[in-house]
Parts: sequence; C-alpha cells; structure tokens
Amino acid sequence: MNIAVLGSGQVGQTIGSRLVHLGHAVMMGSRDEANPKAVAWAKEEKHNALFGTFANAAAFGEIIFNCTLGSASLDALYMAGAANLKGKILIDTSNPLDYSDEKHWKLIISNTDSLGEQIQRAFPETFVVKTLNTVYCTVMVDPDKLVERTDIFVSGNSAEAKAKVTMILQKWFHWKHVIDLGDITTSRGVEMYSLLWRSLRLATHSHRFNIKVVHT
Ligand SMILES: NC(=O)c1ccc[n+]([C@@H]2O[C@H](COP(=O)([O-])OP(=O)(O)OC[C@H]3O[C@@H](n4cnc5c(N)ncnc54)[C@H](OP(=O)(O)O)[C@@H]3O)[C@@H](O)[C@H]2O)c1
Repeated sequence: MNIAVLGSGQVGQTIGSRLVHLGHAVMMGSRDEANPKAVAWAKEEKHNALFGTFANAAAFGEIIFNCTLGSASLDALYMAGAANLKGKILIDTSNPLDYSDEKHWKLIISNTDSLGEQIQRAFPETFVVKTLNTVYCTVMVDPDKLVERTDIFVSGNSAEAKAKVTMILQKWFHWKHVIDLGDITTSRGVEMYSLLWRSLRLATHSHRFNIKVVHT
C-alpha cells in the first residue's frame, strides 16, 4: 500500500520505518521538498522510502499519518491540501502542546475542544482517527517491548475508519487491545493525558510505559 507520513520528526521516522519494513511504500512529507531529515531517512531505508512536500506525500498516500508538531498540524495539513486528503483516513498522532516552558508543558487546546476535532472540522471529507498519541514513538510500533499487555485508544466519527485503523494497529503494530473511545470529541481526553504522560516520564525516568485499563 502507498502510505503518507506527514512529519520528519521522531514519530514520522519511527512509523515510516516500521511501514517500510512491512513492505509498504512510504512518502515522508515536510514543508520542504528535500528536508534533510527526510532525505537521510529515505537514504537509510533505501527501497520504498520516498520524500517530498506535505502535498506530494498526501497525494501519494492511500492512508495518511499526521506526525507533525501539534501547534502546526493544521498549517501542515492545509499545506497537504484538502483535495489530497479527501475521502482518505488520516491517522492523527499529534498532541496540541506548547513546550516553551520545558518543565511545564501546556495544552494550547483543551477541555471543550481538541486538535483531533479541529482537524476533523477543517477537513470534513477526511476520516480522522486519533490514536497512538498516548505513547512514546518506539512504543507506538512495538508495544510488545512493554512487560505487560497495555491499551491503545481510537477516537473518530466513522466506525468504518476506526475498524480499519484498529486492524492496522493490531496487524501491523501488534497492539492486542484497542479501546474505541467513541467519536472525535473523545480526542480531548487522550490529548489532555499528555500532561500526565509528561509527569510520568519525569517521575519514572523512562519514555517506555503505557496505560493498562483493569476492571472487575
Ligand atoms: N515524540 C513522541 O514520541 C510522541 C509521542 C506521542 C505523540 N507525539 C506527537 O506526535 C507529533 C510529532 O512529534 P515529533 O516529536 O515526531 O515531531 P515534532 O518535532 O513535534 O514535529 C515535527 C514535524 O512538524 C512539522 N512542523 C514544525 N513546525 C511547523 C510549521 N510551522 N508548519 C508546518 N509544519 C511544521 C515539521 O516540518 P518539517 O518536516 O518541514 O520540519 C516536522 O515534519 C507531535 O504532535 C507530538 O505531540 C509525539
């Protein structure tokens, strides 16, 4: 399958590499046609790893991953172009964070709205599914490295799109337990969790942890 990964940071590179290793053709999108990080990533992966602008990648991908800086995700997606996103599933891994105070990350959208909802409102003909934003990038594609089975969430308005993304999470990334939280408004909770994630990261001195939901 042809897949777009919008974002040349560590999430885009980690997800992109996993997809290439699974045999998919992946185009990494950036603001620049030849972003040095994307060029180096493609060189390292060799076959089936391509790079281009956000628009080139979105046009190429049958499925699109949004792995861009949360505060710039809408701009990046506008650069990708509504026509290139139309009718496609957009897997949104972003968190709307302001990192300007390194000690106290801040949400720039919260409580009554979320970045997932803003993206869905901006691109009504795209099927936005929020997922994977609650874990560190290496955990996103390799949850088996954690010592117990943990949980990952999906939020989105389309049951069909969520079913397809659940298949991707299970078959490609080996998530054994995927919890459907409901419509895209449930992005609020998973995005706001990023502040707790940050505290846990500092308290445990580790990036590699996750939530396990336990009930009676
Ligand atoms: N790091 C993690 O493990 C992790 C875990 C969970 C969720 N997330 C979320 O995943 C997303 C990606 O995180 P990351 O750490 O891989 O990368 P990042 O540094 O947050 O984002 C890098 C990407 O954002 C784009 N970008 C930055 N400023 C922009 C602007 N003004 N306009 C358009 N695009 C812009 C960059 O474009 P260029 O390619 O052109 O430079 C690059 O592709 C974030 O939303 C983050 O909150 C990250």
